[in-house]
Amino acid sequence: MKQEENSMEKIVSLCKRRGFVFPGSEIYGGLANTYDYGPLGVELKNNIKRLWWKYFIHDRKDMVGLDGGILMSPKIWEASGHVKNFKDPLVECKKCHKRFRPDKLEDPSKCPECGGKFTGERMFSGMFKTTIGPIEEEGLVSYLRPETAQAIFVNFKNILNSTNVKIPFGIGQMGKAFRNEITTGNFIFRTLEFEQMEIEYFISPHAKWKEIFEAWVEYMHGFMYIIGLEREKMHDVEIGEKDRAFYSKRTIDMEYDFPFGQDELWAIAYRTDYDLKQHQEESGQDLQYFDDEAKEKYVPHVIEPTFGVDRTLLAILTAAYYEEEMEGEKRVVLKLHHNVAPYKIAVFPLLRNKPQLVDKAKDIFNELKKNWRCEFDDNGNIGKRYRRQDEIGTPYCVTVDFETLEKDNKVTIRDRDSMKQERVAVSELENYFSKKFSI
Ligand code: GAP
Repeated sequence: MKQEENSMEKIVSLCKRRGFVFPGSEIYGGLANTYDYGPLGVELKNNIKRLWWKYFIHDRKDMVGLDGGILMSPKIWEASGHVKNFKDPLVECKKCHKRFRPDKLEDPSKCPECGGKFTGERMFSGMFKTTIGPIEEEGLVSYLRPETAQAIFVNFKNILNSTNVKIPFGIGQMGKAFRNEITTGNFIFRTLEFEQMEIEYFISPHAKWKEIFEAWVEYMHGFMYIIGLEREKMHDVEIGEKDRAFYSKRTIDMEYDFPFGQDELWAIAYRTDYDLKQHQEESGQDLQYFDDEAKEKYVPHVIEPTFGVDRTLLAILTAAYYEEEMEGEKRVVLKLHHNVAPYKIAVFPLLRNKPQLVDKAKDIFNELKKNWRCEFDDNGNIGKRYRRQDEIGTPYCVTVDFETLEKDNKVTIRDRDSMKQERVAVSELENYFSKKFSI
């Protein structure tokens, strides 16, 4: 049985209880819309990022990577148009003083919380300002990046000059981005600090951009299978001209069926030559590419597939969360794809107070951890250990019992989803799990 109702509440609670995601600055009363990733959350996040890097960078011949800075010259944000355009309208309720984006309200004439009247609309910047230098008044005002993309544009020439890339080619990078959002909420869906994985794919201005764009949409869908998301839950939504970002000529938002409704998970935009042209003009540097096949110089156009790490993690958790009835009891299980599961295998001694069982289980754990992220667990009884491993999404549990020692040198492997158990020889374990885990 799949539990959709209230599942956000249940997922938030599981995340805290089991160490996936904690509320930010909690011991000081919290800082709204910030979160910290715990021991399991960071493993899950790293798995998403590792798989993304493999699929989008290493598996393709036309991609290279970059790791640009969070702090960059404020001139970059002037040139990119963010200082002028990365703004949202804001209204405040005169009665309860809550603030909202009027364009996101069903009825923008009154406060959805208390029915109060709003102040007039004013624009506010979505960028966090910061000062570089020891004396605040004299320091250089810059911004925490609201998108990772700009570091790619400003390093375009460096990458051309230092590698063998030829158009069409792409540059991918992942890293933190920051937005001073007014409408936050839905757990880690919309936060002030988050991580992006972005690609700028450079093409000739004469290329058939629509075909390349469509090919990227398909390639992006392919990533869903790798991380265990169902294609049917993703909806490609064409964004109309007035709702598109200021730099985009075409945008598709890839919206996912979250428990709180359908909303943007990833996106793809055709940014044309907007960014490189802006930086060329403002920096005075030549950012053209010499195409030695066409024998011409041009400013390349760009197609941008973009992904939020935190939203991807949330989609994975909500898709994997199941509650099942088992012998009159409720079993909570995260049916995570093994590619993303924080632990692939948990190893137990049947009893914790029998040193021979513990030693044997430790030997097996030490062997398996050479290839896969494993956990050794000898807390509580076996039922309790299974419950915990189910809740954190570990695909397989390996138990060492007396038969292992005294009879057959075999262990019991229990499958998280089917709960079926089988006996496998210790000497066969590496082979067994190599077949189970593809990446
Ligand atoms: N460079 C293009 C760009 O930044 P975007 O649609 O504004 O485009 C890209 O953001 C992705 O970043 C989104 O699809 C989403 O996954 C993620 N994202 C954006 N704002 C976010 C926020 N406040 N909290 C968490 N993730 C966010």
